Amino acid sequence: MNERDLAGRRVVITGGGSGIGAACARRFAESGAEVVLVDLDGAAARAVAAEIGASAVEADLSDPTFDADSLAGSADVLVNNAGIQHVAPVHEFPLDRFRLIQALMVEAPFRLARAALPHMYEQEFGRIVNISSVHGVRASPYKVAYVTAKHALEGMSKVIALEGAPHGVTSNTICPGYVRTPLVEKQIASQAEAHGIPAERVVEEVMLREMAVKRLVEPGEVAELAAYLCSPLAGSATGSSWMLDGGWSAR
Ligand SMILES: NC(=O)c1ccc[n+]([C@@H]2O[C@H](COP(=O)([O-])OP(=O)(O)OC[C@H]3O[C@@H](n4cnc5c(N)ncnc54)[C@H](O)[C@@H]3O)[C@@H](O)[C@H]2O)c1
Repeated sequence: MNERDLAGRRVVITGGGSGIGAACARRFAESGAEVVLVDLDGAAARAVAAEIGASAVEADLSDPTFDADSLAGSADVLVNNAGIQHVAPVHEFPLDRFRLIQALMVEAPFRLARAALPHMYEQEFGRIVNISSVHGVRASPYKVAYVTAKHALEGMSKVIALEGAPHGVTSNTICPGYVRTPLVEKQIASQAEAHGIPAERVVEEVMLREMAVKRLVEPGEVAELAAYLCSPLAGSATGSSWMLDGGWSAR
């Protein structure tokens, strides 16, 4: 096994049926990992799994009763990626959407990490990558639940990094700007309709406004960074927020 290799590692990726999660699944499979995709959309996860020789589990990670031990108890690598967005001003934000977003994007990553750590500690190796966002370190209006959840994920990741360090376990976040995935395609379409402008103008004028690199991030770029952070040679890379935001947070 070379230093970049993930051969034989069991990699659990949430939200692996689409976008960034699917790109991570493909990248980890290429490195020889045994990949498990967990997704609410079982059909999408099974389709990606079939393509790369992985396995798929259908689960609703916003459900407080999901079985974290059976999903992540034997993971060598955990990629907490599943996420959703809801856009509304604070004073009109639906409470049930706020709670759903915290359950899926804060509590589920916590429960999965909690389940994975004993096995990681025992073997003195583990990697946790939390897919955060530039919204883990910057706010935007109308995204209160998402920004709250991503800031919480940043804090959680750092605590896991400090506790995990003596046990060979690292924990990091990746903080992308806008990435070309179905989650963003949906936002482009709805904003184009809301503002009565073409989709290209939404991308240029709204999404890329803060990004100095004037293009969307590609899912494969996120997957490449995740693969590095999970490699054996990244043992000193921990407790950090890895910006992949086209310069947004340099402002
Ligand atoms: N796309 C972006 O611009 C962008 C930017 C920064 C961060 N992110 C983050 O990256 C992550 C992935 O986003 P994406 O753009 O690939 O989204 P996506 O919509 O393409 O994929 C998200 C996946 O999560 C799954 N999912 C949703 N709810 C679930 C639930 N309750 N239980 C289990 N699975 C569930 C979906 O079925 C889907 O397969 C998210 O955490 C998101 O916040 C995305």
